[in-house]
Amino acid sequence: MKVDVRETGVGDAAAEIVAVGLCEGDELPSELADARGAADVKAAFKKVTLIHPEDPERVLVVGLGARADLDAERARVASAVAAREAGKLGARSMAWLVPEAEDREAIAAGLTVGSILAGFRFDRFRKPDAEDEQPPSIESLVLIGPADLAQEVEFARVSAEAQNRARELQELPANIATPSFLAQRATEIADGSESLSIEVLGREEISEKGMGGLEAVSQGTVEEPKLIVLRRTAGEGPTLGIVGKGVTFDTGGISLKPSASMQEMKMDMSGAAAVLEAVAAIDELEIPLNLIAVVPTTENMPSGTATRPGDVITQYNGKTVEVNNTDAEGRLILADALAYCAELGADRLIDIATLTGAVIIALGSTYAALISNDDTLSGEIEQAAGETGELAWRLPLHPEFKELTKGTIADLTNAAAKRKAGTIYAGSFLEEFVDGRPWAHLDVAGTSWDVGREYVGKGPTGFGVRLLVELARNTASG
Ligand code: BES
Ligand code: MN
Ligand code: ZN
Repeated sequence: MKVDVRETGVGDAAAEIVAVGLCEGDELPSELADARGAADVKAAFKKVTLIHPEDPERVLVVGLGARADLDAERARVASAVAAREAGKLGARSMAWLVPEAEDREAIAAGLTVGSILAGFRFDRFRKPDAEDEQPPSIESLVLIGPADLAQEVEFARVSAEAQNRARELQELPANIATPSFLAQRATEIADGSESLSIEVLGREEISEKGMGGLEAVSQGTVEEPKLIVLRRTAGEGPTLGIVGKGVTFDTGGISLKPSASMQEMKMDMSGAAAVLEAVAAIDELEIPLNLIAVVPTTENMPSGTATRPGDVITQYNGKTVEVNNTDAEGRLILADALAYCAELGADRLIDIATLTGAVIIALGSTYAALISNDDTLSGEIEQAAGETGELAWRLPLHPEFKELTKGTIADLTNAAAKRKAGTIYAGSFLEEFVDGRPWAHLDVAGTSWDVGREYVGKGPTGFGVRLLVELARNTASG
């Protein structure tokens, strides 16, 4: 989407429709006070009223609720509501009068993000004029406000566009978005940039290097697994390692999942999608931060060559694991990737993964689980989460959870006999592979799909892209 900041009046924005926010107790701007319909406007949050001044012809008055509650999240929601309404009215361009607020930059950024995310469509497999087609989305957005909002708005635009690309990857079915497809996308990202380099390992190299987790999960499928490494060099500072789970389809393997909603498991590469597109955005924004992104990607399929429950494997860092449940595959591939990322020189590590169904029970679609061995890193993630609305709630580590991860004939087991603290168990397991470095794990199984918030709706959310980009910016600026 094209986004501009312009210091103009509401009548001169050159957009088919103009949105104006209204807080409770406030009056409409004087030039709109006499518009047809102006008597009916409502300031309650998310209420929208179409009014007709002379110039422009159509104005959407969007209720923002109490002024004290106006923040970036409300701006994202209000903007998504307005964009949808404008789309229904057939508009392809729209303008927003950025409301007065203490942190006007954050509000302007929120309006940008809300409109871009609400405009996400995935219709490549449909006939062009299908009857239940959503109206086309807005193509250009003008923010009416002071020119010094422009930098923050551009940051928001790049982040949100990256998030929509991650959503596209999530939505693509597993016969298209294969590990090779993700590697191809990563190559495209790297090729477009001077400061990015890429390395992709295939099945043979994965085995040769001793990445026993990725090898074990991928041995049941003919689809070639890939270990994708994207590196960004941008100066002297410390290096952030980010790892994303890239299971392009999770059947459970021999510990087969029930068939009822197995099709949803095409989204088990949501962490990978977030990591790849976040790297692209960080690079596009030229954030001065060194990065090593590692994406282990494979299918998890049952077959005559698949890993059996009870098999013992050796991970990249030499630890052995009893694979008691082949459906707990994410932690096996992440374990190799985290250890590899640490070895390549990451000073701190973050992984993002659709790792457990248990996190959906605990935190629904509202919060990702955050598990970390480091209060500073964890605090930085909580801050970025709060700023972006990609919320994360920290869960504890404890020696008793660690006890559960011990194997009977190997160092570790990948699934506890009793399903105690499933999300934390997985986190405790991953901690064995981070080489004692500051590390944080985000379990995004609940927040990556069907969140239902106004700006992401049903389906893929691209959760984590904006959080990672924000974190990168905060880290780079010290
Ligand atoms: N990919 C799933 C987790 C998941 C569940 C993601 C629902 C998105 C929505 C993961 O690989 C898995 O199967 N986890 C198991 C672990 C168990 C076998 C220890 C689970 O959560 O049931
Ligand atoms: Mn699984
Ligand atoms: Zn999985």
